[in-house]
This record gives sequence, structure tokens and C-alpha cells, in this order.
Amino acid sequence: MRIAIIGTGYVGLVAGACFSDTGNDVICVDKNEDKIKRLLDGEIPIYEPGLEDLVKRGVKENRLSFTTSTADAVQKSDIIFMAVGTPPLPSGDPDLSYLKAAAEEVARSMPGYRLVVNKSTVPIGSHKTVAEWMKPHTTHSYDVVSNPEFLKEGTAIDDFLKPDRVVIGTNDEKVYETMRELYSPFVRQGNPIIWMDPVSAEITKYACNSFLAVRISFMNELAQLCEKVGGDIDQIRKGMSTDHRIGRHFLYAGVGYGGSCFPKDVQALVSTATKNDVKLGIVTEAENANARQKKHLVGKVKDHFGGNLKGKTFALWGLAFKPNTDDIREAPALTIIDELLRSEAKVKAFDPIAAENVKAIYGDKVEFTKSSYEAITGADALLVVTEWNEFKHADIQKIKSALKDPVVFDGRNVYDPVKMRENGFTYFGIGRS
Ligand SMILES: NC(=O)c1ccc[n+]([C@@H]2O[C@H](COP(=O)([O-])OP(=O)(O)OC[C@H]3O[C@@H](n4cnc5c(N)ncnc54)[C@H](O)[C@@H]3O)[C@@H](O)[C@H]2O)c1
Repeated sequence: MRIAIIGTGYVGLVAGACFSDTGNDVICVDKNEDKIKRLLDGEIPIYEPGLEDLVKRGVKENRLSFTTSTADAVQKSDIIFMAVGTPPLPSGDPDLSYLKAAAEEVARSMPGYRLVVNKSTVPIGSHKTVAEWMKPHTTHSYDVVSNPEFLKEGTAIDDFLKPDRVVIGTNDEKVYETMRELYSPFVRQGNPIIWMDPVSAEITKYACNSFLAVRISFMNELAQLCEKVGGDIDQIRKGMSTDHRIGRHFLYAGVGYGGSCFPKDVQALVSTATKNDVKLGIVTEAENANARQKKHLVGKVKDHFGGNLKGKTFALWGLAFKPNTDDIREAPALTIIDELLRSEAKVKAFDPIAAENVKAIYGDKVEFTKSSYEAITGADALLVVTEWNEFKHADIQKIKSALKDPVVFDGRNVYDPVKMRENGFTYFGIGRS
């Protein structure tokens, strides 16, 4: 099939690379000229394990190309994927201006029928909205299908090539058949392609992210209870996760969830519900609990240092919102840095991949180090914020001798509290009394 992907970000580039790998001709479009230039020069503008090989193979075999021209891509393609960003507005609603601009440009460029696929996470009813935006700009016919994306940054390639399921939201059987054929190479192991109406597909995406956010916030609140009454949230997690009805994913207490999806999608779902006079109390509270949790670690730091952090130096290990990505959107690390700087503390930070993105925000206000041990040298305490593997297996004797005092605030519960205390650390985890 001939495919255009509008928006070459975390989703668009992964989708483009994976579709080209199954033999389709894919043109990825982005209005960010620098991004397209880098891709044309063979550089991958984001960090995602496995992506570079796939992109290089697609380009080498002439199945994957890049352009800033939506018109050119739309003319050469039959299926147009919308993968532009839908970031949150201050109101909590997603900003649909990128999607609208893309939809209008697609419509203006169409030389005939096109199938338009909403891959961006969009508010309920957007399949209709996109069709309405396109209408004044074309005389040709088109269909708009909802096809939400469920990939996770850090394992995006695997998630796309072997999805748990593919959701296709359309009332049109022919459209469904085209989509089914496109996705058939990815579901050979029997994972389902689920055909549903477009509104259900749009809600499914928000429901998944909101449900996972609820699980995390539930564990974070329980962790706070453990800190007051005793108990270890990690033991409790094990006790819970062995129950098949509960399962083992997304039950980790920590510094709160971040990323470009959970916070924004939870807010968008709540906003739609509120506009329709429906109260989504559980989901609303998940987001409130998360906002509190993002400040929890610094609260512990303040308690330990008697409320005064002025002039103290804190080392942060991990800045990305989770390991194996360079994405820092809504990352808890940013809240933690803000809180520390507001308290007039000094911050030394290390992240194996995401430091440059954080540096673009804070500049000289934060010292970025080239190694994890350089960050802790002479620091008053270490804060573990992202659970990169290299931190899990760090040399604790080296940590102890590098720090001014052996104080660790483990925001991801990566270390064994007993072992840390036996080795002379003052250790604070999350929900581990
Ligand atoms: N990142 C994820 O893990 C993830 C997972 C599932 C769904 N989603 C959803 O997918 C969508 C894209 O997310 P992302 O993380 O890839 O965003 P992103 O910010 O990484 O990429 C979006 C890209 O779209 C480009 N763009 C904006 N307007 C454009 C236009 N008119 N024409 C061409 N390009 C344009 C931007 O320059 C940017 O490069 C969002 O709706 C998001 O909620 C994201």
C-alpha cells in the first residue's frame, strides 16, 4: 500500500518505519524542517531502541522517505495517517490546531479519494470533526477512520510490530477491510484486530490510559499510607499482582506518572465528561493524586533536611519520564527540579539520554554531568528519579564514598532498603516504612 504519515514524531516515525518494513511505500511528513533534514541526513531525531535499524532499512530499500510537503505525500499515497501532536491546552482539552491544519492541507492536496486515519489521540467525535474540517477544501470523496495507537515509548517498535490488539473504528466494511489488510502482518500470532464504531475506538484509547493512570495513582496513595502505618508497598504489589484479576503491570509506586500521554489523556477524558454532565470522579482523583505524588519526593528531602535546602546540592539520577526514552514531556523530574530550585538548592543531574532536552529548558540553572558518579560527587543526597538499568546496578560503595553524606531518596524503589541501611545509608524509598 502507499501510505503518507503526517507528523513524524514518536508515533509517526515508528508507524512509518514499521509499515515500510512490511513492504509498504511510506512517506513521512513533518512541518519541522530541521527534523526532516536530520532524517534525510540519516539521523534519527528521537531516541527509541531499534528504530534506527528499521528506518535505515526502509530508506535503503526505497520504501521509506521523508518530506516537508504534505501535498507531495498526499498525492503519492492512498492512505493518510494523521500522527500530529495533540498537546494539552491550559483548559485540559487537547490542542487540535495541528490536526486541523493537517486535515485541511490533506484535503486541499487530494487528487482523488483518500482514506484518512486518525492515529493521533483525539477527543471523542474527532472522526466527524476531521471530516468536517476537510469538507470545504476538497470535492473528492474520503473516509475518516479512527485507529488509536497504543505503543509505549521505550518499547515502541515491539509494541507496533506485535501489538496486543489493533483497534479500528469505522462503520464502513470496505474501510475496515483495507485497514485489516494493512495490519495483518502484525497480528500473525493471533492478537486480535478489533472492529468497532469510531466513537468506541476513540473512547477505548482514553479509557486505557486513564485506567493505567488510576492503577499507578492507587499504588502511590497506598504507598503514602504505608509510610504512615508501616508496610512495604513493594511486598504489597507482589501480593496483589499474583491475583490474575489484577495482573502485574502498572502497579509500581514512585514519583508519579508523566509522559506525553497519561496526564493529557486523563485531562481530556475528564473534560469531555464534564462538558456532558458526567462525573468521572475516579479518573479526576487519579490526576490530582499524581500532581501530589510528583512533589512527594522533595517533601521527604525537606523533612530530612529540616525544611531548609538553601545552598545544599542534590544529585538527580534520571530525567526522562521513564527509562529507554529521551521524552521529558510532563516528566516528574521537571517538577522535582522546580521544587529544588525554588528552595534555593543546587541541582546536579545525569540522564543517559534525555539530558539535552532538559538542558534546553533549564540551561545553566542545573548542572548536567557526563556520568552518574560525577553527579553525586560532593552532593548532599542522591535522588533516583528514573529507573534506568545502569542505576539499578550501580556500585553502592562508590555512591557512598562520592556523596557528602550517604543519603538516598529512591523515587523508584530500585534499591533494597535493608541492604542500603546495612551499608550505612540513610535510605528513603516510596511506601517502604
Ligand atoms: N508518544 C506516545 O507514546 C504516544 C502513544 C500513543 C499515542 N500518541 C498520540 O499520538 C500523537 C502524536 O504523538 P507524538 O508523541 O508522536 O508527538 P510528537 O510531538 O513527537 O510528534 C508530532 C509531530 O507532528 C508534527 N506536526 C505538527 N503539525 C503538523 C502538520 N500540520 N503537518 C506535519 N507535521 C506536523 C510536529 O512537528 C511533530 O514532529 C498524539 O496525539 C499522542 O497523544 C502518542
